Amino acid sequence: MLAMKVALAASFVGVVVGLCPAPKSLLRTPERGALLLPSRDNGMPAAAARTSIRMASSSPADGGGDEQSTGPFTRKSLLEGVTKAAGVLGAGTFVQKGFVAGVPYHGSPDLSGKTAVITGGNTGLGKETAVRLAQLGADVTIACRNPDKAFAALDDIKAQAPGAKVGAMPLDLASLDSVGSFAKRYASSSDRLDILVNNAGVMAIPERQATKDGFEMQFGTNHLGHFRLTSLLMPALLKSPDARVVNVASSAHLFASSVEWDDLNAQAPGAYAPWKAYGLSKLSNIYFTKALQRRVDSKGGSITATTLHPGACRTELGRYLFDPSQPANPLVYPALAALTLVTKSSKEGAQTQIACAADPALGKGSSAGGTYFVGPKISELPSELARDPEAAERMWAASEKLVGKFSV
Ligand SMILES: NC(=O)c1ccc[n+]([C@@H]2O[C@H](COP(=O)([O-])OP(=O)(O)OC[C@H]3O[C@@H](n4cnc5c(N)ncnc54)[C@H](OP(=O)(O)O)[C@@H]3O)[C@@H](O)[C@H]2O)c1
Repeated sequence: MLAMKVALAASFVGVVVGLCPAPKSLLRTPERGALLLPSRDNGMPAAAARTSIRMASSSPADGGGDEQSTGPFTRKSLLEGVTKAAGVLGAGTFVQKGFVAGVPYHGSPDLSGKTAVITGGNTGLGKETAVRLAQLGADVTIACRNPDKAFAALDDIKAQAPGAKVGAMPLDLASLDSVGSFAKRYASSSDRLDILVNNAGVMAIPERQATKDGFEMQFGTNHLGHFRLTSLLMPALLKSPDARVVNVASSAHLFASSVEWDDLNAQAPGAYAPWKAYGLSKLSNIYFTKALQRRVDSKGGSITATTLHPGACRTELGRYLFDPSQPANPLVYPALAALTLVTKSSKEGAQTQIACAADPALGKGSSAGGTYFVGPKISELPSELARDPEAAERMWAASEKLVGKFSV
């Protein structure tokens, strides 16, 4: 019960952190500097605010900045403010590093000669995973829906993993045709796949959207697209002596408190709810992992399927929570700045999936297969629904009905 509460709290923070389209727009250094300026609260343009601060900190000789100053800041108030801010920041950073950031994966297995596919490898947790696996020597393919973003990410990954073999291939998980084309293209470039990280995802789309094949977008992208992709890549995975399938789930699977088996795609009038659909997609990632491992084990295969919650991370996952056409409430800025202290960076968040993909101790012959990780540890799933093996099998059958047979 305690674990469930902790997981729910983590999901909630994740949800709020989703409010950052902002890793880009708010949390990077130049804008963070801008947040310190009282620019919008009082309608004062930023340049004018900067001028006020300069004036307040200037010497008495030039007419400003002493205790008597009538400007918005005195030297003393500024000093007090800066000291308090530094104290809060210091304490917050201590908490972030000590309790929130999680445990880094320190292993350095030699992955040379291994191949890896990472869906959504152009940003967020996927990109960090691509960087690390490439640094460890794997031949990495990022599978991305947007070619411009993919090429930009490739440059970045190569810069951080000089000499690594990294490529990109088009993949839109919201289209079964695209998933099929990706699998064909991959098969023509490589006959073996050692690591598949099913990482890509969308979260909390406000109104129901449909994939090209008519599935609800979150269930269709996060679960069905990956289910079909894994099925088509199975021949290549089965050729690996120690293959890994890593399904990035979330503690947000708790948002699905039940499964509407007759309406998995939320087609009935009023059935769609953004968070419930996200929760179902993440619950399905967990079911998929368990049902896949059961099948692999029954055939004596050498694939290890794991699933995980990465923690609440500052990525672009919250993109659907913002309406870019609306001006942001100024209170959002300090709130987001504070949230950086209770959330993980992309790099911190990616550590669990990197370990599941690369750690020799979590592969063939280990007890990791079919389990759910939170941080570096196997964790008991907090909900009875997620632990239900019959529901996992039922989801497998329903998924096959929607996207085609999955042979192990
Ligand atoms: N961030 C968190 O706090 C958190 C917490 C729990 C679980 N997770 C899970 O972690 C995974 C990674 O998320 P993230 O936080 O790194 O989010 P992110 O920064 O938004 O990255 C998501 C990636 O998925 C890609 N993607 C979305 N729809 C796609 C589609 N139809 N076809 C192919 N690629 C698609 C995105 O491509 P574009 O760049 O082209 O949009 C992007 O590369 C997700 O499965 C998410 O559910 C995240």
